[in-house]
Amino acid sequence: MSPLNIVILAAGKGTRMHSDKPKVLHAVAGKPLLGHVIDCAQQLSPEKIVVVYGFGGEQVPQAFEAKPLLWAEQAQQLGTGHAVQQAMPHLDEDGLSLILLGDVPLIEPATCRALLERATQALVLLTVKKDDPTGYGRIVRTEHGDVSAIVEHKDATEILRAIKEVNSGIMAMPNRHLKRWLEALRNNNSQGEYYLTDIVAMAVADQVPVEAVITDDEWQVAGINSKQDLAAVERVYQTRQAQALLKAGVTLADPARIDIRGALTVGRDVEIDIGCVFEGAVSLGDGVRVGAYSILRDASIGAGTQIAPYTHMDQVTVAEDCRIGPYARLRPGTALANETHVGNFVELKNAQVDVGSKINHLSYVGDTTVGKQVNIGAGTITCNYDGANKFRTVIEDHAFIGSDSQLVAPVTIGAGATIGAGSTITKDAPAGELTLSRGRQLTIKGWKRPVKKSGK
Ligand code: UD1
Ligand code: MG
Repeated sequence: MSPLNIVILAAGKGTRMHSDKPKVLHAVAGKPLLGHVIDCAQQLSPEKIVVVYGFGGEQVPQAFEAKPLLWAEQAQQLGTGHAVQQAMPHLDEDGLSLILLGDVPLIEPATCRALLERATQALVLLTVKKDDPTGYGRIVRTEHGDVSAIVEHKDATEILRAIKEVNSGIMAMPNRHLKRWLEALRNNNSQGEYYLTDIVAMAVADQVPVEAVITDDEWQVAGINSKQDLAAVERVYQTRQAQALLKAGVTLADPARIDIRGALTVGRDVEIDIGCVFEGAVSLGDGVRVGAYSILRDASIGAGTQIAPYTHMDQVTVAEDCRIGPYARLRPGTALANETHVGNFVELKNAQVDVGSKINHLSYVGDTTVGKQVNIGAGTITCNYDGANKFRTVIEDHAFIGSDSQLVAPVTIGAGATIGAGSTITKDAPAGELTLSRGRQLTIKGWKRPVKKSGK
């Protein structure tokens, strides 16, 4: 088998995006356009992936530093053929190349495979029929139906412009032919560019078979040139993910009102209300319900947990049968054990909360270890920061923290200890005892409220 090389063209500026950012770094579902194409390419297990970059300079390679890619710079954007030429030194002589476009993000591996199966001896084009083919290269066929050329819109006569079948820009071919054809490209056309599409007529002249795979999925080959295109592709992508969730048995209050920017994995009987956003890697166990307008990023939620509306989570682990929200904010490093309750206006950061504990109202608990069956009263604050350093608070099993208390870290509340409401605790509180720190309640007999002085 010949080695597979994938060339991704990503040098273009994207003038119509009206942005200083290179086009391929704009995101669909939170991931750069080029990232989608690279992910598709990686699923084909190629020998190498070569990305042709140009506009925006090193920004594009820097954005994908962690990926095993080869980079070819196209300093001046002289056309798609010229772009592929820049990649040529990286390509295997006996290899097969698949050309992908960095601004066509919804392309799928299965479609690429259909091209590659036929490309060992042929030039294979991915084409699509469009009601409005304006702007695209037209697929010209002979009277026998064989592809004879691609003619760019700007170079096409009225007769050719009537052709509805267009070039997606995605194609595959043996490198030994590609090399020869690229060397022969000329830029004597209306745009003064080296068109990759000119290799089709060359293949015909060389009697190399040219085949077209026609896709009926327009969106897989949709290129992004403007913010309108970006928004349209985003909606299609989200709709497809929502449909996949419905198919997997998830109940969505409205498939048009969910956004998944990453990978969402789900158990059985999961319910998601409107307006939720899932970012990064999120997993929802069996029977999890997510309330409206919740935002979950990199979170793992155990079976049976109920998340009430407007809950935000970022880098957290929640075990089974917990009750979270509404209006709870769980920040990085937080881990909740089974049957914990976190209520409204509670912020947790790097807090590990053990089985059955409750933090139900208006509290900040950060850098804290909470034991089992602890009750943290309304308005409790762990003072974890002295302006320079962070310290931990430890609250042992069965402790009870009275409302409106401040626990000044580093501090430990012993097992079964009770903290009187309104206390500021600066020293360790012993297990099993009541500790409180507040002025004693006084009543001043006969005290009178001040009255307004006359004349003022
Ligand atoms: C190209 C095709 C056209 C096809 C259309 C599909 C050619 C000559 N035309 O036209 O047949 O219907 O795509 O969208 O190939 N790029 C570079 N360097 C360059 C020029 C382009 O890297 O010098 C990259 C762009 O970043 C983009 C891709 O190649 O990802 C396509 O370029 P674009 O300018 O959009 O080509 P079109 O004129 O739309
Ligand atoms: Mg284009």
